[in-house]
Formats: sequence, structure tokens, C-alpha cells
Amino acid sequence: MSRLVIVSNRVTVPEPGKPPPPGGLAIAVKAAFKNRPGIWFGWSGKIDDNPNTEPTVAERDNITYVVTDLATADYQEYYNGFANRVLWPILHYRVDLAEFSRSDLSGYLRVNGLFADKLSQFLQPDDTIWVHDYHLIPLARELRSRGHQNPLGFFLHIPCPPPDLLFTIPRQEQSLGVMSHYDLIGFQTDNDRDNYARYLQISGAHMGRDGQSYQHEGRVTRIGTFPVGIETAEYARDAEHAAHSDFLRELRESLSGRQLFVGVDRLDYSKGIVHRIEAFDHFLETEPNWRNRVVFLQITPKSRAEIPEYGDMGRAVNELVGDVNGRYGEASWTPIRYINRPYGREDLAGIFRLAAAALVTPLRDGMNLVAKEYVAAQDAEDPGVLILSQFAGAAAELEGALIVNPHETEGMAAAMKTALLMPRDERKSRHAVMYEAIAKNDIEHWVETFLNSLTESKKPPFMAQIR
Ligand code: ADP
Ligand code: F6P
Repeated sequence: MSRLVIVSNRVTVPEPGKPPPPGGLAIAVKAAFKNRPGIWFGWSGKIDDNPNTEPTVAERDNITYVVTDLATADYQEYYNGFANRVLWPILHYRVDLAEFSRSDLSGYLRVNGLFADKLSQFLQPDDTIWVHDYHLIPLARELRSRGHQNPLGFFLHIPCPPPDLLFTIPRQEQSLGVMSHYDLIGFQTDNDRDNYARYLQISGAHMGRDGQSYQHEGRVTRIGTFPVGIETAEYARDAEHAAHSDFLRELRESLSGRQLFVGVDRLDYSKGIVHRIEAFDHFLETEPNWRNRVVFLQITPKSRAEIPEYGDMGRAVNELVGDVNGRYGEASWTPIRYINRPYGREDLAGIFRLAAAALVTPLRDGMNLVAKEYVAAQDAEDPGVLILSQFAGAAAELEGALIVNPHETEGMAAAMKTALLMPRDERKSRHAVMYEAIAKNDIEHWVETFLNSLTESKKPPFMAQIR
């Protein structure tokens, strides 16, 4: 079996007793190594201005972690700059929040070159290389220019908007335009894939007859949809186990019989947290009978805190939470419990199982694994209700959810009431449909279908089809 080499921006070497940082990518990537050995390469999360520091290598289970630090300028221009102030907002349809500078773009391209330099020394000719997410789009070009002919796949964990939005990325041909150095590009939904295909057509690429491949500058690249999943069965077991923990007992007792709504997200403007709280406010305003009978627990670790748009959003949430709690709260009831730190996976699974409804209402999200985790965590005999934004990739798969438009406060508030009143039979049938979907398309299915498709894309019949 050839080795799998995974490259992602942030790579956290596991330490005993330390939960992994929140974020869907790391959870998904780790599962890819379950049945195969390999290397996981990326940024250590640390800053170091010494240019001669070599990457650190650490073995854990069957994964060789190879991590490199970033210099201050690289961190600012590549991570806080082009990746998270241009690509992140625009790919999440928020052109209004994008801040472009040429030095940030140079830093982005430079770090992709640096990653290729540092990774090169670890590569063998028969390795399969799988690159993840928007930070590393130009990495394939950098690796090819250093002579690596390995199978090279790319997966975009975040949304891909329509071409009109993609063309707002200044000098987009230097970032999005270099994807043809990959053999396979994967997207979360058909909508994302089709948007990219339209962008390619407008950019002059020659599309294959099947619409699933294109030719550009002599290279053939396949494109496909691979909705990311979770470790469904393991997650369900964890949740069942967690239901009996001391942590859960204390939480349950603290509710004194009240119903629980839960929201779990990184503190990110794409997650729609402000809109969600406004909807909860509207629900309490218009449904006074429910006051003091429901608690909304929002667990939101801080993310990318040095980026101004994240700070602005964090302050807006603080203000709104204080406002709602001040207006409706009582000495013995706080409507919103707002927490800014991560929880361990088992504790979160237990919270999901206890909650009558999850509010997963991003303004845009590539997939949203929290939605799937919530479904996996439920007791099938008495499940809770998933309130899910139509703009999360997960909405394409989770038909049993109450689908909402996060821009409509009244609609979201109505869904909250519907969830609280939904009869058990309806909850069970909605949950069964969703559980079946996430059991079928779990994380192993995602890994296998992507890697099989990458192998296929290197075979002659596929190449012949487009020529
Ligand atoms: P994103 O990748 O944009 O952060 P996802 O919903 O796809 O969003 O993935 C988030 C992952 O991080 C999930 O596995 C979720 O359980 C985890 N996570 C999110 N918030 C927390 C938190 N407060 N504590 C622990 N894990 C969290
Ligand atoms: O796909 C979402 C994502 O950007 C991942 O790439 C990343 O692991 C996660 O969010 C958390 O982001 P960050 O590494 O910037 O904290």
C-alpha cells in the first residue's frame, strides 16, 4: 500500500489530556489514516523567526506528524492575511468583509512555496498526496515545479461561491487559477462543484464531456462532490456513554427540568451566531409562555482573534447576549449561557444528546459537522430536533432537519417553537432518516471514495475520455 501524505494548514500533534482544537478538518483528516500509514504535514501553530529551524517530526499511532513553524511575516500575510481576510470571506459570500493587499498575496504564495520546499524532503515517488483547504490551493503547482509527479488531490472544506464572487478575488488566476496542477479536486456539495465548473468555463478551460473533468495547459483534472462525514457509529457510542457522566448529571440538574437548546461553533461570522441570538430573542418576545422554560447554551471558542472582523463580531455577540439576558433573565434563570472555550468530544456528545434542539444556523458553511454530530448523538427512541440552515452543506443530506433561512428571524423563532412541540413520533421518523444518511456516508466512506477517485483519475481510460 502506498503511503498517504496529507497536507493541511494547521496540524496539532496530539498530547495526552489536551483536546484537539475545534474545527472540522482535523477530525476528518485524522480518520483518513485509520487504515493506512502516512505523513501529516502542516503548520505547528507556532511562530518562529529563525529561518533555519527544521520541521519537527513526531510519531503517534500510525501517523508521522511533520510540523513546521511560521515566521511572523508569514503568519500575518498568509494566515491572518490572504487566507483568512480574502479567501475565507469571499468563499463564504462575504465580499463586504474582504481586505486585500498585494503583500498578503505574496505572503500566501511564498508560504505555499515554503511548504513545498519543506515537504519535498519527506516525499517518495509512490506517495499519494492529499492537500486540504483554501490555505494551500497553489501547493500542487509548487510541488510539480519541484518535479513531484505523484497523484495529487485537493479537497475544499469550505463553500465555493458562483463565478461572479470568485472573480472579485484580486488576481484570482494566481490562487484559484492554478488548481489544474491537481489530479482531483473535491467539493462538499454539487452546488460548490458546479460553481467552480462555471468559473473554469468562463476562464477558458476545456470541460470534459461528463462535466466532471477539464483540461487546462495540457493537464487533465477531475472534479467531484465528496460530502465529508463523521465517525458516526463511534460518535453515537460516545454520546450514549457520556449520558451517564458526572458532567452530564450536573448539567441536567442545573436545568431544573427546563428544555435545552444548544449551539456549538467557532466564534466566526460565517456561523450566524448574531442572527441566531436575535431569533431566540424574538422567540422569547413573542412566546412569553416559554420564558423560564428553556435555556440556550452557546459554546463558542474564540477563533482567529487577531483578525479585526472576528473581534468586531465577538463584541457584537457579547453585547447581544448581555442584552437578552438582561431583558428576560430572572434571579434563578439565565436565558443564554454563553461560553468561550472548547469542550472535550465526549462532553459535547453528551450535551448534544441532552439538548431538545440544536441550532445549527450558519449564514454559509461548507458542510458543518456539528449538525451531523448532533444527529449521531441522539437517543433514537427520544431524539431531539435539528434546526439547520439551508446554507450549510449538510442541508443537502439531512432532509429530516427543520430547514431554516438564518436571515429570517421570525422563521427561525417559529422553528424553535415547532421543535419544542414536535411529537415524539415525528422526531423519531425525522431522526431515523438523518441517521441513515450519516451512517451510510460516514467518514470512512468519504476517505475511500475520494482516494479511489484520485487513483481512477490517473488511469488511462479516464485520460482518454477528455482528449
Ligand atoms: P468548522 O470546521 O468551520 O469549525 P464544523 O462544524 O464543520 O465547522 O466542525 C467543527 C468541529 O469542531 C466539530 O467536530 C465540533 O464538534 C468541533 N467543535 C466546535 N466547537 C467546539 C467546542 N466549543 N468545543 C469542542 N469542539 C468543538
Ligand atoms: O474548514 C474550516 C477550517 O478553516 C479548517 O481549515 C480549520 O481546521 C478550521 O476551520 C479552524 O480554523 P483555524 O485553523 O484557522 O483555527
